[in-house]
Amino acid sequence: MVASPRLPPKASDIFELISRSACETEQLGERLGACVSAGDVVGLTGELGTGKTTLIRGLAKGLGIDPNLVRSPTFMLMREYPGRVPLIHVDGYRLNQPGSAVWEDLAWIFTPTKITVIEWAERLHGCLPEDYLELELAHRTTNQRTIRAIGHGPRSHNLVETVQRGLSPPR
Ligand SMILES: Nc1ncnc2c1ncn2[C@@H]1O[C@H](COP(=O)(O)OP(=O)(O)OP(=O)(O)O)[C@@H](O)[C@H]1O
Ligand SMILES: [Mg+2]
Repeated sequence: MVASPRLPPKASDIFELISRSACETEQLGERLGACVSAGDVVGLTGELGTGKTTLIRGLAKGLGIDPNLVRSPTFMLMREYPGRVPLIHVDGYRLNQPGSAVWEDLAWIFTPTKITVIEWAERLHGCLPEDYLELELAHRTTNQRTIRAIGHGPRSHNLVETVQRGLSPPR
C-alpha cells in the first residue's frame, strides 16, 4: 500500500498534557471513549510501559466495555471487544517488517462500523488511514507521562477539540 502525502498537523490539531498517575491516564482514555464514534482510529505510540494499554482500558470503559477485558494483544496481534460500538485492539509491536504480507492484510482492521485502537502505531506507518488520532506517550518520571494528541485529518481534529474541551476547567 502506498501512503499518500500528509499535510503536517497545525498547532490547533495538537494538545499535550501531563498525566500524574496510571489512574489519570485511564481517566483520559475514558474521556476519549465517551467522544469516539464508529470509524474512528486511534494510534498510540511510545516506548514499553508508557501507558498505552492503560489508556485503552479507560477508552473501553468510556465505551461501556468492561476494562478488565483489555489486555495487550502482543502475541495475538489483535483482539476485539464487543460493545455498543465494537472495539478492535491491535498491537503493532511485532510488525517490524514494512511491506510484508502481514501489513498488506491489515487494511480490514479499519472499518466504518467499529473503533480501532493500535498500540505501537509507529510500526504500521504507511498503513494507517488518512484520518486518525495519534496519541504519543512518553515517560517523564516513574509515575508521570507526557501525552500528546495529534489530529491527522478533519475528523480527528474535531476529536482533539472535543476531548480538549472536556478536559478544560469550567470558566
Ligand atoms: N501516569 C501513568 N500513566 C500510565 N501508566 C502509568 C503511569 N504511572 C505509572 N504507570 C504504570 O506504567 C505501566 C504502564 O503499563 P502499560 O501496559 O499500560 O504500558 P504499555 O505502553 O501498554 O506497555 P507495552 O509497550 O509493554 O504494551 C503500568 O504498570 C502503570 O501502572
Ligand atoms: Mg501495552
